[in-house]
Amino acid sequence: MAELQLNDPQTLYRRWEDSQWNPFTIDLSRDREQWAAGIEEREVVLFALASLMVAEERITTKFSGLVGAHGSEEEATFLATQQVDEARHMQFYARFQDEVVADPSAIGEHVGRARTQVSPAFEHIFDVALVEAHEQLVAAPADLAAKVRFITLYHLVLESTLGLTSFHFITEYLKREDLLPGFVEGYSLIHDDETRHIGYGVWFLRQTVDERPEMADAVRATLRDLLPSVADSLEPPGAGGDGGGEVLGVTQDALREFALGGLTRRLDIIGVPLASL
Ligand SMILES: [Fe+2]
Ligand SMILES: [Fe+2]
Repeated sequence: MAELQLNDPQTLYRRWEDSQWNPFTIDLSRDREQWAAGIEEREVVLFALASLMVAEERITTKFSGLVGAHGSEEEATFLATQQVDEARHMQFYARFQDEVVADPSAIGEHVGRARTQVSPAFEHIFDVALVEAHEQLVAAPADLAAKVRFITLYHLVLESTLGLTSFHFITEYLKREDLLPGFVEGYSLIHDDETRHIGYGVWFLRQTVDERPEMADAVRATLRDLLPSVADSLEPPGAGGDGGGEVLGVTQDALREFALGGLTRRLDIIGVPLASL
């Protein structure tokens, strides 16, 4: 196994206590001015915002089953913090929609509007695969294979492969163009939280596959099911579909390479190499 010290849930919990932030105190005044004046690539930025809004709503409301499936008190404690984090992320995106993009409204309305923007592949991942994996876990919290499938989907696919890739390229673009500084600040704090969540997911999967090698099959089956939709959902509107089109100054091939590189590294740590799929 790879030489690496992974953080256990108690360490991640202590880190959470030191990392509190408030989604309502980030300064969005320059974002508001810039948005009102009209920004370039507005359609792609809106697509990205819509995807983040829908993703955080799903991720927040389809999580409690995992808290109920905890193994130890330390794990239950960490998972409770993750649930709070996800709700905080949803609140930040909703506030951004309220104060920068649209008129103030309830979170459900923002999500409803954002839903008209996302792709069928994205909907498949968040409305079908995630919902089913969560329902299975709620129905059988002691089913280890169901927990492995859920964490593979949630922490490894959604938070790592999709989430880290989106963060990397969206913030690179906004920083390069000096756009939406309040959004970048909030999104970066969200990213720090996500790093803890992913740390938990990798810790859990590695430990589980180490103790119960047959669980590697559940990791593989989940990834085989989902990876085609993940590749499709990384393609925003206007990309052209041939892998060479540029969006926010980056090619689709570069995007996929980044996503796959991260997934490959994490799977090596977990002990289920991508090549074994
Ligand atoms: Fe989140
Ligand atoms: Fe997260």
